[in-house]
Amino acid sequence: MGRLEGKNTIITGAAGGVGLETSIQFAIEGANVLMTDVNASALEKAVTIVKEHAADGVRIEGKPCDVSKEAEVEELVASLEKYGGVDVMFNNAGIMHPEDDGILNTPERIWDLTFAINVRGVAYGSKYAIKSMLENKKTKAAIINTASVVAIVGSATPQIAYTASKGAVMALTRELAIQYAKSGIRINSLCPAPLNTPLLQAFLDTEEKKLRRTVHFPTGRFGEAIEQAKAVVFLASDDASFIIGQDFVVDGGMTKSYVTSLDPTPPAPSNIAFGK
Ligand SMILES: NC(=O)c1ccc[n+]([C@@H]2O[C@H](COP(=O)([O-])OP(=O)(O)OC[C@H]3O[C@@H](n4cnc5c(N)ncnc54)[C@H](O)[C@@H]3O)[C@@H](O)[C@H]2O)c1
Repeated sequence: MGRLEGKNTIITGAAGGVGLETSIQFAIEGANVLMTDVNASALEKAVTIVKEHAADGVRIEGKPCDVSKEAEVEELVASLEKYGGVDVMFNNAGIMHPEDDGILNTPERIWDLTFAINVRGVAYGSKYAIKSMLENKKTKAAIINTASVVAIVGSATPQIAYTASKGAVMALTRELAIQYAKSGIRINSLCPAPLNTPLLQAFLDTEEKKLRRTVHFPTGRFGEAIEQAKAVVFLASDDASFIIGQDFVVDGGMTKSYVTSLDPTPPAPSNIAFGK
């Protein structure tokens, strides 16, 4: 029996790296997965991939949605009412805009866009999931909101609006977790370290740029999307029944390290779909 057997789950940003790998892991673990993304064509392809890996009998659906639009998020969550409402909400969609820079250079519209998606999107996803979970009297529900290690440790290569938005995600998640702890809803934030995703690696286009980051990882490497996905499965599952209000850091030890070893880097696990 899968660890998420029979749970109705929603994953936002499901066409991207972490969202797609998590959709696959949820489907393998027996969850019904409602995948959503603002990019409808990428979402369609992602749904096809997830169906190939899903456990028998699970329901995999795709429904485009812009998480910064409250009415769209409300409609998305409401679409699961006919199945008994949502059990697990993974508010994962987020952006890091190329014009997001230091405090002196980041324009107002980039602040607004980043907060609309990264903060208001997570707030709307949490709001309508909580509403559904309460109305359907769920007793083992879970919400996971994606923050980032940049909300915990400072970087001299800033993306200031992004960093501030992820701090906001952690703060709102903690407050909701405490408020709803006795309502059968566990709420945690996921704090990934920088990952080996095409977007980040395209930005880190020289060995020197890469090394400035990998030197802080005790293993000497970036994380993989699948390593976040496995952690989200745990947070979503009933195995995590006493994990509440945590900034759940999945960073290969990056935020705990000082001087790191010069030994060779051990291999990373492979993603199932992302980056292939
Ligand atoms: N990749 C990393 O290094 C890293 C590190 C820490 C945290 N994170 C966070 O993890 C989450 C997922 O990151 P990823 O690496 O998979 O990114 P990604 O860019 O591969 O995926 C993000 C997905 O979100 C979607 N999206 C963007 N705006 C949206 C909107 N308004 N409504 C709905 N969907 C929208 C995109 O279309 C994309 O498919 C993000 O919140 C990100 O900030 C990523």
